[in-house]
Amino acid sequence: MAAYQAGSPVVLVPTMGALHDGHGALVEAARVRAGTAGTVVVSLFVNPAQFGPGEDFDAYPRAFADDCSRCEAAGADVVFHPSAAEMYPAGRPGVLVVEQSLAQTLCGPTRPGHFDGVCTVVAKLFHLVRPDISLFGKKDYQQLAILRHMVTELNFPIEIVGAETVREPDGLAMSSRNRYLTPEEREQAPWVRKVLLGIRDHPSRQAAARLASAREQLAAGAPLGRIDYLQIVDRNSMAELDEIDRPALAAAAVFFGKARLIDNIEIG
Ligand code: PAF
Repeated sequence: MAAYQAGSPVVLVPTMGALHDGHGALVEAARVRAGTAGTVVVSLFVNPAQFGPGEDFDAYPRAFADDCSRCEAAGADVVFHPSAAEMYPAGRPGVLVVEQSLAQTLCGPTRPGHFDGVCTVVAKLFHLVRPDISLFGKKDYQQLAILRHMVTELNFPIEIVGAETVREPDGLAMSSRNRYLTPEEREQAPWVRKVLLGIRDHPSRQAAARLASAREQLAAGAPLGRIDYLQIVDRNSMAELDEIDRPALAAAAVFFGKARLIDNIEIG
């Protein structure tokens, strides 16, 4: 464990715990960015402000001892594990950081208030930890775009780094929520990745044509899946696209029983 040295970088990996190999890769990448002199901080906080009513806040897995071992194995120096009372003394955020433009599509409409909760907690973590660099996974692509936007808009002197999604051998994106899946759901869940690859490789320029064929494939391959959204958006503005004439992102949220899984793929 490195002792903090003034002038060397502090690198933060914000998480909600229940760490898996995807988080491990983020912490390892943070270690590389920090070098031997820098400090890698991993925050573990299941943030109530980003869960809506009826969502899985209470059920969200908590695994503090295992998380600490994983952090240590991946090269973290500090684990920051605040309580809800420390983060929100009044029981809820007294000031919200509200994203005004990038939350109109994808998870924004289906999880109202979610990104405000994310921005608020991450802004607080940035003030508490004061990192030079912070890393986030591309599985939550919209979150990454929104946090980049927040850092620019609120002038945080922090470099935001996006890391590639880590997958199971069958393509399923690693997620703390995969543990909610029954064996049958787990078997069908990799279809989310398969249809996203199909959207990327489809010859039509029209988003509607690509999405229609993806919906058909998903219904056939993963009948247990219920689509929350399947959309193609501009990769920077997150605005929905009719025609794929610029760098785009195909993204999906699909319910399998209790688990709501998200994934995405860059196009072009
Ligand atoms: O991606 C997550 O795990 C969370 O949204 C984050 C960024 C740690 C904020 O609570």
